[in-house]
Amino acid sequence: MFTDIRQLTPEQALVEMRALADRLAALDIAYHQQDAPLVSDAEYDALKRRNEALEAAFPALIQANSPSRRVGAAVAEGFAKVRHAVPMLSLGNIFTEEDVYDFMDRIHRFLGIPVDTPIEMVAEPKIDGLSFSAVYQDGVFVQGATRGDGAVGEDITANLKTIGALPRVLSETGGDLFQRHIPARIDVRGEVYMSKADFFALNQAQAAVGKKTFANPRNAAAGSLRQLDATMTASRKLSLFAYAVGEVSDATWTTHYGFLEQLRAWGFPVNPEIRLCRTPAEMVAFFQDLNARRADLPYDIDGVVYKVNRLDLQARLGFIARSPRWAIAHKFPAEQAMTKLERIRVQVGRTGALTPVADLTPVNVGGVVVRHATLHNADEIERKDIREGDTVVIQRAGDVIPQVVQVVSDKRSVDSKPFVFPVVCPVCGSHAVREDDDAVFYCTGGLICPAQNKERLKHFVAKESLDIDGLGDKNIDLFYELGWLRQPADIFRLEERHMLDVIGLDGWGQKSAVKLFDAIRRVAAGVSLPRFINALGIREVGVATARLMAAHFGTWDQLSAAMMTDEARNTLVQIEGVGPVMADHIVNFFAEPHNRDLLADLVRLVVIQPYERPAGVITPLTGKTVVFTGTLVTMTRPEAKDRALRVGAKVAGSVSAKTDYVVAGAEAGSKLNKAETLGVRIIDEDLFRQMLDAGEKTDYAKTVTGE
Ligand code: IVH
Repeated sequence: MFTDIRQLTPEQALVEMRALADRLAALDIAYHQQDAPLVSDAEYDALKRRNEALEAAFPALIQANSPSRRVGAAVAEGFAKVRHAVPMLSLGNIFTEEDVYDFMDRIHRFLGIPVDTPIEMVAEPKIDGLSFSAVYQDGVFVQGATRGDGAVGEDITANLKTIGALPRVLSETGGDLFQRHIPARIDVRGEVYMSKADFFALNQAQAAVGKKTFANPRNAAAGSLRQLDATMTASRKLSLFAYAVGEVSDATWTTHYGFLEQLRAWGFPVNPEIRLCRTPAEMVAFFQDLNARRADLPYDIDGVVYKVNRLDLQARLGFIARSPRWAIAHKFPAEQAMTKLERIRVQVGRTGALTPVADLTPVNVGGVVVRHATLHNADEIERKDIREGDTVVIQRAGDVIPQVVQVVSDKRSVDSKPFVFPVVCPVCGSHAVREDDDAVFYCTGGLICPAQNKERLKHFVAKESLDIDGLGDKNIDLFYELGWLRQPADIFRLEERHMLDVIGLDGWGQKSAVKLFDAIRRVAAGVSLPRFINALGIREVGVATARLMAAHFGTWDQLSAAMMTDEARNTLVQIEGVGPVMADHIVNFFAEPHNRDLLADLVRLVVIQPYERPAGVITPLTGKTVVFTGTLVTMTRPEAKDRALRVGAKVAGSVSAKTDYVVAGAEAGSKLNKAETLGVRIIDEDLFRQMLDAGEKTDYAKTVTGE
């Protein structure tokens, strides 16, 4: 019945093992879940034994979904994944006092509230830890998760349970009578951190037994929380502060401050430094005070978070990409240090941009060892007169790449020479040119430049693009050098062409190879349209634009068909948020014959999912193209546009035959005439609001992250 295993090639074995995995999984479902066995027990056992024999003979080929590993596989493979009902978002950053005023200005303008009418803000320390989500069902803690990529995190329920500060059950006796209500379901969010004292004690204990120490409390907290074995987490001292909410079945509070008091009443630790501010001046004063006391606080903070207090205003403000418009992080000033600049190296990016990088004598800046700094471009080097061998002041702010602030000129050696920026690409030798009034030099090598090709591949698989686990920068470099990967489509042929080569590579266990191929196959089986567009690496097209394009065209077929017509540029500039320069880059990308070939090849290997409209927001405006004209009374133009986008409408700048509705405010101009000529339906502000509300959910966070 079965071929003699000794006569099988690994490829044949793999094909058979995959078939067995599928067959056995189907038999399991029929037997266990449907009580309807498809084969006799003897037949089932024979299949299982055959699979085991194959695995014994070809251990390198054991699949992640192998029937022999199905039980307990989740534990061995890492944490289970948890999809957040409401995405966990990030915050925009600001750095100066002026930015605080600008931020408040923007909020006032967006809402149409005069600048001298105060909008109350909550100012909170920004805790430097790891964000968590804790879901309570009928007041009982049922699930804990990390932030992950914002949409899907890791299940850390067991780990969170070991943190004493997290209420296992929401208290019904704290606070006032009003605060004793327990929602049927609520997702409380906050930050897990390790206190400075516990961090030092832990490092001492680790060092005493020769174990690795942690660079800072944040890393220690991360290392302790993300332990597969929760008893390890329990042995570390972790604490937390709660400060936000995800999904909630019934909220009784109407302000963020009220919510924080509710959290306290339920038994959560809420940061004691949090204050209400009525003006930007008060916000700045809070920031300065906290910065001055930063070192004395028992935990690390890296800035202040400002949040609009009224939830109705928060809801109106909504989100830009993945950050709320109603909150922002004000980061503490960068930390600086002095060190030697050993060498200036010029890197080539995926668009061919030449970026100079400073290699430094490693130096500790605020707890982190810095080895490289960006020098931006040739002009920057010239302006600051930065030379190899100089002593320089560098600074590091938050997650930003360290920068060279200035040269310490009295330490410069007498024989130092100005840096000469290369006129050829340091990788492929092609000419480097700069476009008119552009500070950046570009390699003209295009497709022949290995550096550009490699960077394009890295961008293609990066987290915000196709997110292929196991294909990091180092592996891309390696596979490229080996000639296995030259263009994106090759990734999806890697298993077929080079499976055994990969397994045979130095440092590549069989397990890691199988894991990589599994990850590639998973991506090939379905990638979201915005991710795919972003992955193409079109100049100026990032995540936000990719999402706008996906929302506009709906499917890859429609997008690429539209790009093949003479109207492509016009169609693109009609999309709100896509400018003429961006449109040109997009059109050029699709016009390039090589790119067309590359895409044709790619779409045969990858399933691109149609754009999914964010759930729960079907209104009469969803999917319709809307144009605004004239002045609206109850909301500003930006708010009107934003709300239309949130319910899945497309907002265009001018009226055409494709326009579904023209929203006409007071003193509407020529667009109104054009709408009348073309017979486009004209609606007033009142009707527009009714259409928005006919289905608009209060769950705003959900409406922004359609993938
Ligand atoms: S509010 C939608 N408040 O900062 C806004 N975040 O840069 C959700 N963080 O991922 C965040 N302290 O991990 C908020 N008081 C605070 C915070 C805080 C620390 C972290 C959080 C978030 C990151 C955003």
